[in-house]
Amino acid sequence: MARLLLRGFDIRIGYLDASAQTGLIELLRPILKAAPLYRPVTPSGKEMSVRMTSAGALGWVTDRAGYRYQDTHPDGAAWPAIPDEILAIWQDLTGADRQPDCCLINYYGEGTKMGLHQDKDEADFSWPVLSISLGDDALFRIGNTTRGGKTESIWLSSGDVVIMGGPARLAYHGVDRIRFGSSRLLPKGGRINLTLRVAS
Ligand code: SIN
Ligand code: MN
Repeated sequence: MARLLLRGFDIRIGYLDASAQTGLIELLRPILKAAPLYRPVTPSGKEMSVRMTSAGALGWVTDRAGYRYQDTHPDGAAWPAIPDEILAIWQDLTGADRQPDCCLINYYGEGTKMGLHQDKDEADFSWPVLSISLGDDALFRIGNTTRGGKTESIWLSSGDVVIMGGPARLAYHGVDRIRFGSSRLLPKGGRINLTLRVAS
């Protein structure tokens, strides 16, 4: 497995092989049934282009009331548990003494993106955030810990895992675009990104 350090972002290229990727998609199927993807709205009222849901004790949500973690899906149901196989990836790559209590699931369909942002709704930034890419390639942009300045981009492919910790924990990041249909992992195309966070 190749490893690339880009501005403190620890990128494990090809961490998950093809069968591990398929296995994760199988594990996500019942989760997406229990906690369906929905299109979130930012506090300013703008619809995001990605669709979103979560697993874990807490899920990250956004709506007119703001960005936050909460213990239920917008439909009122508790979030499904994070599968042990996903927790094992966290354990292997972070060695942290705490398990994540949120696995945010973002689905990128054709033409979707995610603007540059910081992950800063968590209680303690000393825990890393771990991001798993599945499906279509994504152009991932990395900025600075303050808005503006030079950025660098890298294409992430299915099976790549990024660890955002230490000085990179509060760096701006986002997805400019995906190469829709570049992977056959998801039957209808698109990309799933899982981010594991210690939220509380
Ligand atoms: C995120 O920052 O929440 C998602 C990053 C990605 O999709 O790779
Ligand atoms: Mn993020």
